[in-house]
Amino acid sequence: MSFSKLTIRDVPVHDKVVLVRADYNVPLSDGKISDDLRVRASIPTLQYLRERGCVVVVMSHLGRPDGQANPEYSLAPVAEHLAELLGQPVKFVDTCYGDKVTQAVKVARPGDVVLLENVRFHTEEEANDSTFAGKIAKSSQARYFVQDGFGVVHRAHASTEAITHFLPSVSGLLLEREVTIIIDAMEAPERPLYAVMGGAKVSDKIKVIEAFVEKADKILIGGAMANTFLAYKGNDIGRSKAETDQQVTLDAIYAAARKKVGDEHVDEFLVLPVDVAVAATIDGKQPRRNQKVDSIGETDIAADIGDLSIERFTTELAKAKTVVWNGTMGLAEFPEFAHGSARVALTLATTPGMTSIVGGGDTADFALKWDGNEGDSFTHVSTGGGASLDLMAGKKLPGVEALLEGPK
Ligand code: 3PG
Repeated sequence: MSFSKLTIRDVPVHDKVVLVRADYNVPLSDGKISDDLRVRASIPTLQYLRERGCVVVVMSHLGRPDGQANPEYSLAPVAEHLAELLGQPVKFVDTCYGDKVTQAVKVARPGDVVLLENVRFHTEEEANDSTFAGKIAKSSQARYFVQDGFGVVHRAHASTEAITHFLPSVSGLLLEREVTIIIDAMEAPERPLYAVMGGAKVSDKIKVIEAFVEKADKILIGGAMANTFLAYKGNDIGRSKAETDQQVTLDAIYAAARKKVGDEHVDEFLVLPVDVAVAATIDGKQPRRNQKVDSIGETDIAADIGDLSIERFTTELAKAKTVVWNGTMGLAEFPEFAHGSARVALTLATTPGMTSIVGGGDTADFALKWDGNEGDSFTHVSTGGGASLDLMAGKKLPGVEALLEGPK
C-alpha cells in the first residue's frame, strides 16, 4: 500500500466541524466554470463527511491574485456550481477567517457545506504564515483538517502546511486516490509500463523523464518535446518550436537510457516520431502535411506527430499493461493537429485490461474534452498538474508530508 497517511476513514469525524482544503483552481470564462473536473473530484469526500453529520467548511485558492482581494478570482461561482453538484445550498463566506466565518459555522446544521473565499487574497497564504493559518483554524472551529486538494499539495502554503500545526490533519479520498494510483504506477505497475511524454518543454519535465527512464519499459515522445529530441539527434526541424539549450540534459537522459537497455536498443526504448505533421503557419486554416523527420522543410512547423508515427505509437501502446500519459502530442487545440493526441487517447480508452493514467494540466484538459464520458474512459485522470509531475518524479509533497502518519 503506497499511501501511509491517515484518512478521513481513520478518525471519528461524526458530527464534527471539519475544515477541508480543496483545489478549486478552475478555469472561468464569463464567470462560469469551463472545466469542473476539480469540483466534481472533490464530491466524494464532501459527501462522506456530510453523510456523517459533519459541518464541512471548505477552503481553496483560485488563480494567482498576488495576495490582493480581486473579484475576478472570487470562489463565488464555485459555490454555486458546488451547490448544483451536491443538490443542496452551499453557504459562501466572502472571507476566509474572522467573525463572518465563525457565525456561518455556528448557524450551520449537520451536513451543511460552507465555502470560504480565496485564501490567496492574503499574502500570508503563499508565505505559509502560521498566524494566518491559526486564524483560519480558530474561526472555522474545526476539529479536523482534511487535505483533499491534490493539485496544490506540492506547495507549502498556509492552507496546506501551516494549518496542519493547528488541527489533527488527515487525507481526503481524492488525495488518497491520486497518490495511491500514481505511486503504484511508478513503483509496482503491471508491466509493461509505457510512458507517453509530450507537451512543450523538456526542461519542465526533466525529473519526470529521468524517473521514467529508470522505471518504464518504453517511453514514447511527441509534441514540441519531440522536436527538441529530433534536433538533438541532428534533424533539421525547420521553424518548429524546440529548446536549443538542453544538450547536457539530453546527453544525461541518453546515457541513462543506454546504461539501462544497451546502445543497440536505445531507440526502441526512447521512441521518437519517424514523421511529423507540419504546416507553414499554425492558424487553424492550413491543413496538416506529413513530413519524414529527415526531410522537414526550412519553413515547416511541426505541430503533431505524423500519420506513420501515430500508427507506430498506438501499435506500441496497445501492448502496454500500464500507461502514464503526460503531455499532448502536438498543438491539440487545433483540430488538424490533434490527431496524434486523439489516437493516443483512443488507444488508452479502448485497450482491454490497460491501466491508463492521464497526467493533469493540458493533458487532462485534452482527454476530458475528447472523452464523451467525463474522463471515465480512463483508469484515472489526475486533477494535479505540477503536483502529479512532482509525485511521478519522486519528489516529496509538503501538503502530504504534513499529514498524520498511519500505523505501519
Ligand atoms: C494548479 O493548478 O496546478 C494548482 O492549483 C496550483 O496552482 P499554482 O500553480 O498557482 O500554485
